[in-house]
Amino acid sequence: MKDKIKTLQREIAKAIQEARTPTALDEVQNTYFGRKGKLTMILRAVRDLPEKDRPSIGKIVNSAKLDLESRLNERKAMLEGQGSSLDEEWADVTEPGIRPPEGHLHLVTHAIREITSIFDTIGFTRVRYPEVDWDWYAFESLNMPADHPARDEWETFFMDAPPGKKGKMVLTPHTSNSQVREMERGEFPIRMIDIAKCYRRQSDVTHVPMFHQFEGLYVDKDVSIAHLRGILDYFVKAFFGPDRKTRLRPFHFRFTEPSFEIDVSCDACGGSGKNEQGEKCRMCKRGWLELGGAGMVHPNVLSAGGIDSTEYSGLAFGWGVERTYMMKEGLKVDDIRTLYRNDIRFLKQF
Ligand code: DAH
Repeated sequence: MKDKIKTLQREIAKAIQEARTPTALDEVQNTYFGRKGKLTMILRAVRDLPEKDRPSIGKIVNSAKLDLESRLNERKAMLEGQGSSLDEEWADVTEPGIRPPEGHLHLVTHAIREITSIFDTIGFTRVRYPEVDWDWYAFESLNMPADHPARDEWETFFMDAPPGKKGKMVLTPHTSNSQVREMERGEFPIRMIDIAKCYRRQSDVTHVPMFHQFEGLYVDKDVSIAHLRGILDYFVKAFFGPDRKTRLRPFHFRFTEPSFEIDVSCDACGGSGKNEQGEKCRMCKRGWLELGGAGMVHPNVLSAGGIDSTEYSGLAFGWGVERTYMMKEGLKVDDIRTLYRNDIRFLKQF
């Protein structure tokens, strides 16, 4: 009996010590001190002991009870006095901190970086020129005199500012303004890639008023269409994949002669223009996707940049960043304006 009391006393003392909240302590109290609690039962059992054992055992039980009650009260005072539970206060200093939400680069920034690094490997340096520029660089020097109807295509925003010697100021409607600016630096050979914002008065599911283009320019002696093909082939294979092919399709731009539109073979149908069922491919036109413009720099543009067109020749190309990137990923964004709506649910996917 004595041993039983001692063991129980130890068990209860431990339970009291380990209770970390007032509620947990209440539970301990019920289990042991309650009407059917283990301690209460033992106290009752003393009554049934033979007369001669009762005083000595009774003493032990009573002192155990007193000891435990005072422990219980002490613990209770401590837990309640703290006003909060030990669990809440307890801090694991080795636990990793809470990280703030982490963002990532916009998909257009990714595209710009990738384009830059592809051209970097073949010696094209990224340059930057104004995104608000004079009419002269955006049009006139590119063989588009004032009032020439070709200008209409560029749906230009004009700045409400007094015209200067180089005409009115415009929000650059294409990156081709960088061509003559780069020529004016007078260093040869020219191998530049200009990636910048462009602005046009347009907004619908396939157009945004602010978008990006990348403009390449290579000027040296004996630059030919073969170089143009080589450069574009290289870019398309590096950016879209080694199986993709390019095609030059005759076109007209005022600042290049001859001019081309560049097509890249369709990934969905492998360039055949037909899907597996033999029906017309829905992604492309007869196996090709239109990417952008290119051509051999017009002699008038070289002259505007102070370059002797009998000695030097050049090639140029200009494509939209957003468009090119969406083709690469096979992204079917049904409204291109989503790119700039800053909806985190959309942007998080990339
Ligand atoms: N600037 C033209 C546009 O915005 C694209 C372009 C076509 C750029 C031919 C070029 C080029 O450099 O040679 O539509």
